[in-house]
Amino acid sequence: MVDVTELFDGLADRYDRSAGYFAAFAGPLVELAEPAPNGIVVDVAAGTGAVTGALRHRLGENTRVLAVDRSIPMLRRLRRRRLPRTQVALMDARRLALPDRSIALVTAGFLLHFVTDAGEMLREARRVLAPGGVLLASTPGPCDDGGWWQHYGEVLAPYVAQVSQRRPTDMNDWAHDIGALAAAAGLVDVDRHPAEVHLPMRGPEHYREWLMSMGNRWIDDALAPAAAAALRDDIIASLRTHHPAGGHRLDAGATLWRMRAPR
Ligand SMILES: C[S@@+](CC[C@H](N)C(=O)[O-])C[C@H]1O[C@@H](n2cnc3c(N)ncnc32)[C@H](O)[C@@H]1O
Repeated sequence: MVDVTELFDGLADRYDRSAGYFAAFAGPLVELAEPAPNGIVVDVAAGTGAVTGALRHRLGENTRVLAVDRSIPMLRRLRRRRLPRTQVALMDARRLALPDRSIALVTAGFLLHFVTDAGEMLREARRVLAPGGVLLASTPGPCDDGGWWQHYGEVLAPYVAQVSQRRPTDMNDWAHDIGALAAAAGLVDVDRHPAEVHLPMRGPEHYREWLMSMGNRWIDDALAPAAAAALRDDIIASLRTHHPAGGHRLDAGATLWRMRAPR
């Protein structure tokens, strides 16, 4: 069985490159850092740097960004971006090598559905946040997409059933209530902001290529070649038939979370 780190190790070279979906949500996420903090900001599960780049764009010269992740290949791609005043380090979101109450802002873009226990990650963020410090996080969310994501789930279901025992460890169904987990972790003023992106795509093949350039990829990797080819055909047929733009537009939603440590 693979784990989430191996999944992203294998994805690093293609991760989201064909659409820019994660970057599209990163901008609105960091806009929620109001007022913009000074000092050190930590981007947890930074991946190839969608949120790190948005932070760098938004924050002033007297702010340093520490970008951490558990996947060395993802961090290697992030390092290649040579973002100014940005340090990159290998760190697990559940055990940050940082002192208690030291950080003004922690960000975690699309991480909470990749940790078995999201509460553990939230408690760790709370531990390192300075009094009044802010945590910004994003999770997959609903979208006005004509019901296509539901069709996609139905297309995947029989294939997932074939290989469910090979689902990466640490990957959860993200059905848990982040608000309740955040409150249990001692975080306060928990706000959620719905967000959507609608990005042009070249068509169903391009859309499917993008789908397999992120977490979904595990199913493709786990299937035998003939089943993987059948899944590819089913996804493309579903985009042609059920998608409101025939697979020529990526419609996706997220929930952006803002919460803080008590003062
Ligand atoms: C979907 S990507 C999101 C990356 C980036 N934040 C973005 O918005 O594009 C999830 C990232 O979480 C990282 N990850 C998963 N579990 C982790 C953990 N326990 N600690 C640190 N990083 C983790 C993966 O290696 C991957 O880079």
